[in-house]
Amino acid sequence: KNIVILISGAGSNMAAIVRAAQQEDWAQRDGARVAAVISHRPDAAGLAFARAQGIAALALDHRAYASRAAFDAELAAAIDRQQPALVVLAGFMRILTPGFVARYAGRLINIHPSLLPAFTGRHTHQRAIDAGCRFAGATVHQVTADLDAGPILDQAVVPVLPGDTADSLAARVLTQEHLMYPRAVRACLQRLAALSDAPPKPPTAG
Ligand code: GRF
Repeated sequence: KNIVILISGAGSNMAAIVRAAQQEDWAQRDGARVAAVISHRPDAAGLAFARAQGIAALALDHRAYASRAAFDAELAAAIDRQQPALVVLAGFMRILTPGFVARYAGRLINIHPSLLPAFTGRHTHQRAIDAGCRFAGATVHQVTADLDAGPILDQAVVPVLPGDTADSLAARVLTQEHLMYPRAVRACLQRLAALSDAPPKPPTAG
């Protein structure tokens, strides 16, 4: 079962998943591996990390494409070459077209740095602080055509402390993301495997 991870920058969540796969031996236990890391930014630092781990690392410079649809088509072709069981968005900062999302429905997940449905979109930590939230966190969810709104798979919560800045809160949340996302990825793979191994339902009578 191949996992493809899409990143935009540091890729710290991607790195956490790669390390978990190595340390927990997902290949042996789940027949799962991170097959490729893809970014729309050639300078994404996470690509160098992936290459150093011997993982295929591909940059599709989104500026080279005339439209979002053209980029998404090229991205889908690169992803499909890996025949992924699961496509993981990890710090991926692009809006995907509905056609792309539909193509991977049920095997496309994302991590968002807020306790959804609160604070969809950007600058989530500053907004939580400005709103006086006592808690913040991150959410792993299925990706649907509606931004940051798909079925929730897992959440991690952290306290917002007096004097917190967006950066101090982001760092506290990111620590929890790195624990939660690898577990969520593994759980998704096991659920998808169970679905594909399940015997076909007998036709309903009548
Ligand atoms: C994280 O806050 C994550 O929740 C969001 O992007 C940020 C950076 O992620 N999706 P990463 O370090 O690039 O994995």
